[in-house]
Amino acid sequence: MKYANITGWGKCLPPSVLTNDDLSTIMETSDEWIYPRTGIKARRVSHVSTTTLATLAGRRALACAGLDASDLDGIILATATPGTLVPNCASAVQQALGAHKAAVFDLNAACTGFVYALSVATSLVQTGMMSKVLVIGAERLTQLLDWAKRDTAVLFGDGAGAVVIEASGLESGLIANKLGCDSEAREILHVPNFGTDRVRFADIDGLFTFNFEGQEIFKRAVRGMGEATGAVLAQAGIAPEQVDLIVPHQANVRIIETLAKRMHADMDKVMVNIEQYGNTSAATVPIALCEALEQGRVKPNSYLLSAAFGAGLTWGAALIKW
Ligand code: ACO
Repeated sequence: MKYANITGWGKCLPPSVLTNDDLSTIMETSDEWIYPRTGIKARRVSHVSTTTLATLAGRRALACAGLDASDLDGIILATATPGTLVPNCASAVQQALGAHKAAVFDLNAACTGFVYALSVATSLVQTGMMSKVLVIGAERLTQLLDWAKRDTAVLFGDGAGAVVIEASGLESGLIANKLGCDSEAREILHVPNFGTDRVRFADIDGLFTFNFEGQEIFKRAVRGMGEATGAVLAQAGIAPEQVDLIVPHQANVRIIETLAKRMHADMDKVMVNIEQYGNTSAATVPIALCEALEQGRVKPNSYLLSAAFGAGLTWGAALIKW
């Protein structure tokens, strides 16, 4: 059996920090409102493109794996905020890295994008179609925000994270996964007019802003992630208490706490960094994974469980053996 080991990881967080207190100077909000409801204290705002964020995270992951970009067979870029739709953003990353041999594509499953991309990359490696793949989650969500809309402007931030996966006979990497989509609810988290559905030449109010029903998303997120984690653990024959670290999508600390509670896991078994970065969509999971590794929280032979949900409403979970 072929496995797809994670051999390198890297992240890129823009240096500009926007705190809740900063936001309260430009809109009717406060740290007292935002922090208890979301767990967010600050987010990063990028002045460079999604491509640049993705390239830097990718370059760091390649250095960590000891690989040259020219060794890559593939680059999968999970993003809902590509710098360009045509050509894809992954081709710009290929060019910047010099990964001339790599097949490249963007994958949009919103905040679940990285879990989807890791699953696709693992399949490509396991079937023998590729042997070295760079999987990136990168977002520049602040470009979509309407800073006059406090309900969404306080939630999101920019950043990127990446992993390198390589074919191996050693049992590690993604060993079980479950992906899905609750399309009945696709309108509750929606950026209208960001695609060819937009009415051409119309004077559009609210271009590039979020339609967002927070409480409904909350309920469905908890359900989707709960079902996905249950399915993944059953698939792998692993009991919840055997999971060493949960690396969830960082959308709201209360959603993360609810997931942990369902798994009867203490919060010290959960990687949480939403306080500093807010929700960076497809980038939250690889950034959190990188930080867990940097903090020495990932031990050899341990089981990591990641779960995410996003617009679509896509959802998914991945069990990784380290
Ligand atoms: N500052 C101050 N007041 C605010 C703010 C703000 N930033 N945003 C909304 N309010 C006000 C509203 O106007 C409303 O006031 P009103 O009662 O006078 O009308 C009041 O606060 C309550 O607003 P709600 O939207 O009902 O607030 P809620 O308690 O639902 O909390 C939150 C909002 C935190 C977003 C919550 O719905 C949530 O956690 N949702 C799920 C998480 C989520 O959706 N995250 C986004 C991720 S999307 C993704 O990852 C795919």
